[in-house]
Amino acid sequence: MGVGIIGINRFTPEKVVTNQDLEKILDTSDEWIRTRTGIEERRIADDDTNTSDMAYEAARKAIQDAGITPEQLDLIIVATVTPDHPFPSVACMIQERLEAKNAAAMDIGAACAGFMYGIITGKQFIETGTYKHVLVVGVEKLSKIVDWSDRNTAVLFGDGAGAAVLGEVSEGRGILSFELGADGTGAKHLYQDEHIIMNGREVFKFAVRQMGESSVNVIEKAGLNRDDVDYLIPHQANIRIMEASRERLELPVEKMSKTVNKYGNTSAASIPISIVEDIEAGKIKDDDVIVMVGFGGGLTWGAICIKWGR
Ligand SMILES: CC(C)(COP(=O)(O)OP(=O)(O)OC[C@H]1O[C@@H](n2cnc3c(N)ncnc32)[C@H](O)[C@@H]1OP(=O)(O)O)[C@@H](O)C(=O)NCCC(=O)NCCS
Repeated sequence: MGVGIIGINRFTPEKVVTNQDLEKILDTSDEWIRTRTGIEERRIADDDTNTSDMAYEAARKAIQDAGITPEQLDLIIVATVTPDHPFPSVACMIQERLEAKNAAAMDIGAACAGFMYGIITGKQFIETGTYKHVLVVGVEKLSKIVDWSDRNTAVLFGDGAGAAVLGEVSEGRGILSFELGADGTGAKHLYQDEHIIMNGREVFKFAVRQMGESSVNVIEKAGLNRDDVDYLIPHQANIRIMEASRERLELPVEKMSKTVNKYGNTSAASIPISIVEDIEAGKIKDDDVIVMVGFGGGLTWGAICIKWGR
């Protein structure tokens, strides 16, 4: 028996904010943003849509996709740094709305690596036989903590949610290996103090190094070689960081997920949103070996090697 993703979906707000829109409020240009980050537009949630609303929408559809009822959930984990409130957790808020009355619920904070942390936390409970179904949501409303007058950060981020249901999958499929890590000495490079504060160059260097290393590590831990990897889903922060990871794995361009152009950096939501888009585009198929890798404030990182399918 393996533990894998048996249902997945996403929610992205309707409102599109293009680079041209940002040119009107910031000293920036479409050309700068595109060439430095790969971002063309991002989605921004309206005032009435909070983090829990996006989490709920993604979760509801992921549960449907899994073919289970909310009562069958044993645990809800929400990875977010932009909860509606410090407490109750977003996980408790959506537990109520989903009527998942048998589920324990908690939020975890690992910033942009949060979805990786959530999946691996959930996996442990299923592997030990304690629980059967765990819902993991990555969700952010970063627009509420972005300083919209700071061009260094305002152009990078977007809002959205992705949700996955973990459960038992067929022999040979599911999570093959993982790596989670943290380095609190780098906390000063990326943190929230009312708004997002970032030392872009330091984060960039860390991300390029860590994404490459963690990707290689999970492939080795799974007992595989680079040639065995069918697809790479890096955290969608910056196309140049993503490209560095792809080159480290010597994969062709078409074997790397790219949604950063449409959504910007949606932090904990970026990897599950990408998975759903790639499934819809026919880029992910059953039995594909996929490496997912994320990094974020903390500093934190996480990578997973998974054989896709239920
Ligand atoms: C932020 C980032 C895109 C900047 O790209 P860069 O190539 O490193 O750019 P630099 O830091 O060299 O800055 C170049 C110049 O562009 C300017 N600049 C920054 N943002 C700008 C913008 N939106 N528009 C125009 N100019 C901008 C800077 O002020 C700087 O000007 P200066 O040289 O006069 O001081 C890049 O460092 C990055 O992506 N870092 C990682 C960030 C990240 O992923 N964060 C989330 C982690 S989950």
